[in-house]
Amino acid sequence: MATAPAPGTPTTTPPSPSAPGVHPRPFWSFQPKSDRESGDAIVSNFALHWFPAKVFKPSLDWNYSFWLGTISAALFLLLIVSGLPLLFLYVPSVERAYGSVKDIEWVVTFGSWIRSVHRLSAHLMVAVVCLHLVRVFFTGAYKNGVGRGQHREWNWVMGVAMLLLTLFLSFTGYLLPWDQLAYWAVTVGTNIAASIPYVGPQIRELLIGGRNIDQPALIRFYVAHVILLPGLLGAAFAYHMWRVRKDGGLARVDRVATLREKAAEEPGAAKTYTLLGVARGTAPTIRAASLEARDLTVNSMPDLVRRAAVAVLGTFAVISVAASLIRSPLEEPANPLVTPNPAKAPWYFLWLQEIVTDTTFTVGGFTVNGAFLGGVILPGIILLVLTAWPWLDRSPAEAAGVWFHKTRSRQNFGFLLFVLFVLLLTIVGTFLRGPSWELFWPWEAWPELPTRI
Ligand code: HEM
Repeated sequence: MATAPAPGTPTTTPPSPSAPGVHPRPFWSFQPKSDRESGDAIVSNFALHWFPAKVFKPSLDWNYSFWLGTISAALFLLLIVSGLPLLFLYVPSVERAYGSVKDIEWVVTFGSWIRSVHRLSAHLMVAVVCLHLVRVFFTGAYKNGVGRGQHREWNWVMGVAMLLLTLFLSFTGYLLPWDQLAYWAVTVGTNIAASIPYVGPQIRELLIGGRNIDQPALIRFYVAHVILLPGLLGAAFAYHMWRVRKDGGLARVDRVATLREKAAEEPGAAKTYTLLGVARGTAPTIRAASLEARDLTVNSMPDLVRRAAVAVLGTFAVISVAASLIRSPLEEPANPLVTPNPAKAPWYFLWLQEIVTDTTFTVGGFTVNGAFLGGVILPGIILLVLTAWPWLDRSPAEAAGVWFHKTRSRQNFGFLLFVLFVLLLTIVGTFLRGPSWELFWPWEAWPELPTRI
């Protein structure tokens, strides 16, 4: 006997691959014959069961999220996979660290490629996580819709914490090769912390385990880099994904629901995700009116899984090819007595280094401490505003899930200015700063200066 479809079921049933005129895809052999089979493929698979069985179709558009969160996750996975073999080869001791990295680079089979995969993934992850934040901002995706129990604002806060973890993960890895680049980039970074009045020197000492960057600093950075920060980031990522699920998917779903709510359309029965949630009355609900509408939902298998696979495998492919073309730098061994000029922080902190330099000036006999103003106070304020932003932004809920919604033009314009400001300072710091932090055009030759000893 044919049974009536349960609410929220089939909206799209793919034709059987054996049907006339349907050709199986060469790279994708799984073609579910029914929604039931499609749902089973998700829930019975360990790797896939964290996806819902059905998703809101417009959320999958390539030009909505650009899959930047998924690409960040793929890069994190690559960092773990490429970091494991490095763990067997790298020796975290001041005497042997540089030599072990040199061996990885020149002696170990595929060592140079693995190191390049690790290094490129680290740099790209910082950039992609920043882009993901920018896309979430411009689509107002930290706003809640009509579903009960939604807390997208907390996912934003979690995201800010994950951005910091990503930056520190990259920064702690910077010191490990123990070459001049590493040593002086970390010196610049930790000196900024030392500029905090009263407690600065103590904070620096806590970070590097003494007055100078030496063995205690290396072992601290090493433990933070291989255990502490990846562990925290992994846990934060698990929570981040759980929240996306609990919030009923990407903010785009809620936009439709909110608009329908506003138009006072007859809402259907609420659809909940967990039985426990129903019992407690805390489960997030998505209005059936929007989600069950024909053509708005699709089966996660294959639609979501196939796109996620393209994003993840595409990231792997790009990094693999780039790593065979781009070698990782390894400068002279670290020498505390020879200061390179200019000594630059890693590129993602260069905008701060630029502010530090620009805010260091003397008025009369009084010197304004740029390291404290530009390196501590300003980033502190930016971080505070960024974290509290979902509560500061009063734009309407229906603005969520849309790029540059007209009701958010002030917010988006302000944020765009901030992004351009950071970008400009990063470009100046990376390409235009030369010896003694003077400005030079890229085609201008730098003067020969005696290295400071
Ligand atoms: C290691 C860093 C991060 C990873 C791996 C990550 C991963 C993800 C993934 C896979 C999604 C699903 C949608 C998508 O692909 O865009 C997502 C959504 C989201 N992320 Fe992240 N994320 C990270 C950092 C951040 C940051 C820095 C922020 C903002 C401060 C943020 C805020 C959000 C929010 C609010 C959502 C829900 C968006 C929506 O409902 O449309 N995430 N993240």
